[in-house]
Amino acid sequence: MNNASTTYIPENFDKHSFQQDLISWYQSIKRDLPWRENQDPYRIWVSEIMLQQTRVDTVIHYFNQFMERFPTVNDLANADEQDVLIAWEGLGYYSRARNLHTAVKEVVATYDGQIPSQSSELKKLKGIGPYTLGAIMSIAFGEPIPAVDGNVMRVMSRIFEVYDNIADQKSKKKFEQVVEAVISKEDPSSFNQGLMELGALICSPKKPKCNECPVSSYCTAFSKGIQEELPVKTKAKKQRTIAYFAMVIEADGQYLIQKRPAQGLLANLWQFPLVEQAEFPKDEAVHYIELEYDLNLEMVHEGKPVKHVFSHVIWEVYPIFCRVSDGDISTDHGQFVTLEEMDQYPLSKVQHKVKQQIDS
Ligand code: ADE
Repeated sequence: MNNASTTYIPENFDKHSFQQDLISWYQSIKRDLPWRENQDPYRIWVSEIMLQQTRVDTVIHYFNQFMERFPTVNDLANADEQDVLIAWEGLGYYSRARNLHTAVKEVVATYDGQIPSQSSELKKLKGIGPYTLGAIMSIAFGEPIPAVDGNVMRVMSRIFEVYDNIADQKSKKKFEQVVEAVISKEDPSSFNQGLMELGALICSPKKPKCNECPVSSYCTAFSKGIQEELPVKTKAKKQRTIAYFAMVIEADGQYLIQKRPAQGLLANLWQFPLVEQAEFPKDEAVHYIELEYDLNLEMVHEGKPVKHVFSHVIWEVYPIFCRVSDGDISTDHGQFVTLEEMDQYPLSKVQHKVKQQIDS
């Protein structure tokens, strides 16, 4: 394959000045973030997983709490998955937490609790893709390995005028080759974090602040005035909407919750039972739950709709509040718990919003 670096990087590109300008800018503006306190690979790993789909401002609090709860690889490896999911509650993309937990257990089982510093070993761990690999290798271990995410692709597409569609999986490899060709061997940590910071603070998707950019003199898009035309990114497919009823079923101050399946969206989180509206109209939904859980129910009232946008699907959830009218509440596929006890079960944001409507 033709290496993208020879295609995109001009022959007269001054790599060393570029590195220096980027790194000294990063050194001068870098924020005091808790995962920058030291180079502990465990802290870097957790932070990079959290930062993948979540903004820095949101991550700070979760990161600090997580580190207090699970200060070491061993603490996390020995934790119950349910407690790990509770610590992740509200961050979304829960497969990140499950994969991290699986990977950390592997580190204890196979590497005696030491996070491998060899990229060939590190990349075998669950949830460590090319981006996380590059971030951990460069920030924790000082290895010049690219860490290319959406921000970095945007920055590089402008500097080197790359028109490849960044929504296309194949493009990422090309951008990794480009970064590999220009990355600093002396300080890959500051170089990679400088690119991330540049993407976050200066080289924004709309109205980039080119007059504040430390590397605008290297930027082909800037020199041509086409920075807002790059990167090329085709619109993602419009998400499908699924409407559910959330059945909030109360019996003597206890509420029925069930565990979601181990695979798929929000796997292993708990919920008030959901019934797809396409399958059951409202009255039938109540009846369906009666049969499914062997309960006698009466409907009390309806709640306010809750909407949540996931990456591939939108949920519209209408809470329906019911009461067990008589009889036994033992059921095989769920548990009746008080609101207080519910804190011990990981719930998604949608479910929290439903829960908040209880007694309100
Ligand atoms: N986004 C992804 N990784 C980051 C890091 N290490 N610091 C700040 N923002 C980031």
